[in-house]
Order: sequence, then C-alpha cells, then structure tokens
Amino acid sequence: MEILLAKNAGFCFGVKNAMEKALKASEEEKNVKTLGPIIHNPDAVRLLEEKGVCSLNSVEDVGEDDTIIIRSHGIGKGEYEILKSKAMKVIDATCPYVKNIHNIVEKNFKNGYKIVIIGDSEHPEVKGINGWCDNEAIIIKDIDGVVEDNFKNQRVCVVSQTTFNAKKWHEIACKIIALTKEALIINTICSATEIRQKETEDISKKVDLMIVIGGKNSSNTRKLYEISKENCNNVMLIENANELNIEKIKQFNKIGITAGASTPQFVIEEVMNNLVSISNEDKITNDVFEKNKL
Ligand code: F3S
Repeated sequence: MEILLAKNAGFCFGVKNAMEKALKASEEEKNVKTLGPIIHNPDAVRLLEEKGVCSLNSVEDVGEDDTIIIRSHGIGKGEYEILKSKAMKVIDATCPYVKNIHNIVEKNFKNGYKIVIIGDSEHPEVKGINGWCDNEAIIIKDIDGVVEDNFKNQRVCVVSQTTFNAKKWHEIACKIIALTKEALIINTICSATEIRQKETEDISKKVDLMIVIGGKNSSNTRKLYEISKENCNNVMLIENANELNIEKIKQFNKIGITAGASTPQFVIEEVMNNLVSISNEDKITNDVFEKNKL
C-alpha cells in the first residue's frame, strides 16, 4: 500500500496562531472563554475544554471577569466594541489576513463604495466582515446571486471569504465587472486555502482512495472533499481515526491523505499511524508533523 500525504495538510498559520494563543491563555489567565468554537474541529475544541476553556455563543454571555479570545474568523466592529466594554481582557486572535479584509471594507465603505462579499452569508468570517460596513454588504455565494438591479450604476468594492473557491470567485467577479459602473475587486482568498486545494487536486488524481480529514462543519474541509470527489471515485471524509473503515481501506493500493486548515496535527498523526499499521511501510514521514506540531 502506498500512501501520499499532502505536504500542507492541517493547520494554517492563522488557526495555529489562534490555538497557541488559547492554550497559552489557559495556563496564564482565569475564566478563559472563546467567542464561538475556536475552530471548526471537535477534537481541538475538546482539547481546550479539558484545559478549562469553554465557548460562548454571543457577546451577550460575556461576564466582567472573563478573558475572551476572538477566534481566527474575526468579529464585527459592533461586537468588538461590546466585548471591550464587558470583558476583563480581550485576546484578539483574528487572523491577520482576515483583519486586512476588515480594514479594506471599513475604509471603502466610508468612501462611499457598496461592499460586496463573495462568500457564504452563514459563515462566521463573512458575518464578521459584514460587521465592518454596518451589516449592509451584498453577500453572494454563486453566479446566480449576481442580480443586475443590485449592481447597475453602482460603485462597488468586492472582497471574498478567505476560504472561497478560486474558480467560482473568478466567475462571479467577472460578472460583477460587466454590470457595474466602477468595481474595486480585491482577491482576498487566502493562499493557504489555494495551496491546500491545489495539492488535494493533484493527489486525488493519482490515487485509488482519497481520505479527507477534518470537522464536518468546517467549510474548507468540505471544499477539499468536493475537489477530491471531482478527481477520484473513492473519497472518505472522516473527523478522526475512530471513523476509519479499515476493512474497506485494505482494498486499495494507493491512498491519498489531506486535511482541512482546522485539523490538528495530532488527529492527522493518529490517522497516519493507523494506516501505517495496515500497510507494508515501516513509517511514513512528512515535514507536516514537524512543522505544525501542537
Ligand atoms: Fe488565516 Fe488563511 Fe488560515 S486567512 S485563518 S491563514 S486559511
């Protein structure tokens, strides 16, 4: 059995930074809480819970003794101000790439541009971005969402969810350009996403079975799953090693592994160890374990 592990599988820079800040705070501060689950991965959330860090649903639940961690997805300006006034301490773990989108949106909204976000309106990152233009953005997730009347004679500033699919983004952006008077288009898709999607595409073309590891509520993991399905007839989406179907896996000779940007290294490692135990190989090495160890 041959196993190909994507070089950049697992935590991206922004998620790793947020996890590290949360773990450090759990040792140094009291009443540490995250606003929403720190990342879309149940194993990572469980790890923090074991260290006493729980997750709050909204800023309304914040108490005056709390230390609040803002996760990598970021939050809107209004929520940020409430948080600052209510909590004892705020640790901002918003990914710098997401923070950059907040700055672009705030500045161009003030300058009179209509803000357009290409992304999923239900995703917390998109909700957060919308909170930097008084929640007035047009949010579009597919080409049919580009309705002519919303764009005619408008000056628009277009940004995107960092994990949005690059091909779809291009399609939507081109249609917007054709309809508007003035369009300021800024591609804010994160390269970490593109790299993971490209690697997944390359590997899934070469293997008989593709295993995608990540939270089922993680949008970037689901995108890796969709890309794998376009190129490989057999794809498994698993949250962790407990969901591995070993008997089925034994039927395949060449297996590809990838993992979403919110999948912790210890989860990938456990899956790999299980696969090594049923393959002929003694050990499977990859820089990924050293680079992202947590
Ligand atoms: Fe940041 Fe990109 Fe990750 S925006 S949170 S480094 S996917």
